Amino acid sequence: MLSYRHSYHAGNHADVLKHLVQVTILDYLLQKDKPLCYHDSHAGAGLYSLGSEQAQKTAEYQQGIGRLWQYQAKSAPLSRYLSLINTLNPAGDLAFYPGSPKIAELMLRPQDTIQATELHPSDFPILQNQFARRRRSRIENIDAYAGFKAMLPPLVKRGLVLLDPPYELKTEYHDLVAGLTEAYRRFPQATYAIWYPVIERPAVEAFIAAIVGTGIKNQLRIEYCPYPDKAGFGMSGSGMLVLNPPYTLATDMREALTELAPLLAGTTPATADDARLLWQVSQLVGE
Ligand SMILES: C[S@@+](CC[C@H](N)C(=O)[O-])C[C@H]1O[C@@H](n2cnc3c(N)ncnc32)[C@H](O)[C@@H]1O
Repeated sequence: MLSYRHSYHAGNHADVLKHLVQVTILDYLLQKDKPLCYHDSHAGAGLYSLGSEQAQKTAEYQQGIGRLWQYQAKSAPLSRYLSLINTLNPAGDLAFYPGSPKIAELMLRPQDTIQATELHPSDFPILQNQFARRRRSRIENIDAYAGFKAMLPPLVKRGLVLLDPPYELKTEYHDLVAGLTEAYRRFPQATYAIWYPVIERPAVEAFIAAIVGTGIKNQLRIEYCPYPDKAGFGMSGSGMLVLNPPYTLATDMREALTELAPLLAGTTPATADDARLLWQVSQLVGE
């Protein structure tokens, strides 16, 4: 079953959190001259028109990137993320939003490798076309978890692996933990970033406990919920679990979320303390 299309959701509050974390990790890895490999297991279409029928139908981006794309950020990670969005929108209208592989393409150098897997028969060719002329890219129309076996480890032994499934199937949580374990066994030097939705609190905590249960060291939880828990009736927020994070990531994210949370909040927080309740950055497993 592949009914999920990211074009309905591109640029929403969950994308803002995910891509802010992605940009901050890549920026850190780019400080060294040594080449890196970016592997995107659920890549989507790569670039989204916010004027499309799908984006306009849900208008989710209006509660996400629409609230902050012209904001002059003080924190360096938020400023870097917003500068990438502005690069794609030079005419002064918010017309396009980049997906995770496009963000990687905008940031990485010629010596770096981009690998991506995407199963959807309509989104895959759109993604593939964008990388047709890039050397050191490998874009495959195969299952994410088969991709870990076929494409990891890469030649370059440093990088970022992003896991961003749609969680349409109940089995996805279990499949992800098994897939992550396999990927980590093959490529333990990488940083892993796993996106998860906050829909039902107990299910979120069980999923996180399962990832902690893999025994992989150094796990950081970054979560942002602009809405109160809805007990299964829609997404109140989302999170990123980052394994082997850059040592600067927790501090960077606390700084960025302090600034971001009130801007994106579903209801205006009355006080700075209320705004702080919307997010958490917690070390789950030490080094
Ligand atoms: C949330 S979207 C990805 C968004 C993208 N990572 C971004 O941030 O721009 C999830 C994508 O995973 C794809 N997908 C679903 N199951 C998959 C699987 N088993 N293997 C590879 N791709 C899959 C869907 O078609 C969809 O495009």
